[in-house]
Amino acid sequence: MVVVFARLSWLVLWTITVTFVSSFNQYSPFQQCPVSAECNKNITQASSPEGTICSPRYSHPYPADITCTYDFYANPGERVQIKFTHFNLYKSKIYSEVNGDCKLEDSVSIFIYEDYDEATAMFCGDTLPLQFMSANNWMRVRFVSNPSPGKGQASGFEFQYKFRKDFGITTGLQSFGDRNRPLCHFTYNSKMQKVGNFTSPNYPGVYPSVTNCQYVFRGERGERVTITMDNFDVGLRSETNVCGGQNDHVTFTCYSHEGPDKGFQPICGVMQSLLTKRVSDGEYFRVLMTSNDNYEHTGFLGRYEFGKGYNVFAPTTPSPETLSGRESSSPRGPSLDVISATLLGLLVCFYMNTAMS
Ligand SMILES: *[C@@H]1O[C@H](CO)[C@@H](O)[C@H](O)[C@H]1NC(C)=O
Ligand SMILES: *[C@@H]1O[C@H](CO)[C@@H](O)[C@H](O)[C@H]1NC(C)=O
Repeated sequence: MVVVFARLSWLVLWTITVTFVSSFNQYSPFQQCPVSAECNKNITQASSPEGTICSPRYSHPYPADITCTYDFYANPGERVQIKFTHFNLYKSKIYSEVNGDCKLEDSVSIFIYEDYDEATAMFCGDTLPLQFMSANNWMRVRFVSNPSPGKGQASGFEFQYKFRKDFGITTGLQSFGDRNRPLCHFTYNSKMQKVGNFTSPNYPGVYPSVTNCQYVFRGERGERVTITMDNFDVGLRSETNVCGGQNDHVTFTCYSHEGPDKGFQPICGVMQSLLTKRVSDGEYFRVLMTSNDNYEHTGFLGRYEFGKGYNVFAPTTPSPETLSGRESSSPRGPSLDVISATLLGLLVCFYMNTAMS
């Protein structure tokens, strides 16, 4: 497995998504760190399900030449989530925000595999990192302060941690597997709520790698499900502009059984809300998000709506395959919304390809 270490992308993401950082509300209010905070710590879910960790001597400047390691052990199937509430590390004279290389700086690194000693993410400087989630039930956070003299006024860091069953997805009804193991599987019933939202795991932080999530929508007879996604940023588009395969992507299906619904093309990359809009054929709809090995993208904030009458504008003749969000195997054909959204998609892709070449 290749863990892509993308400092530059992180930097770019920070600037784009820093506006969402203030919307984390599931955490308890600011908790002061104990003055005698230990530098090395094993934190297990059973003994300490949530808490706050700070740099040594916080919020006074931390000492030079020190390494602190915090290991988090969650129950099987659960995840570790951390959210920085303060981040201010000493920057050396050679540090540049532009290349953002943390290797020679005081830094906080995150490791997500116990048997793989390479950081998945590394933070330095004084930009507040995005909320982060483990890919499994273990995570290590390591703080390194170099022996450089004159640490000055760098006040260190403070972060809150939480062990999470729900993958940071706070709406819908979660499903559980064998031995009550939490699954990234959430159901939304029209009977309970006609309009609502759902998010990628750990939203609005970067979504974790190797995590597949399913969102199932169950309407009442005669209803259709309309899905739109805001702030959509899932994986990269390949050179051929094809989403799917090994790259992170989102798919839609009107079937409850396994296997792809060939009607809907997978989507990926950064997309405008309108272009993500999809309408189900019937009362059942399912959205799948697949992530592989990057920690670079922030996922999406999805909106769903159960309703009748989306079929009014459906064309009577099958539309050309290239123009439909859903290929024309369905006798009902795609709704006008889907066609126009896809048309717009083609225009935007065309424009982007032209602009980039
Ligand atoms: C944490 O646990 C590991 C393995 O069980 C152990 O080697 C290490 O000393 C522990 N660290 C602390 C600070 O207790
Ligand atoms: C999502 O839905 C929940 C529950 O309905 C609501 O509390 C929350 O404010 C919504 N979030 C957004 C970003 O719309």
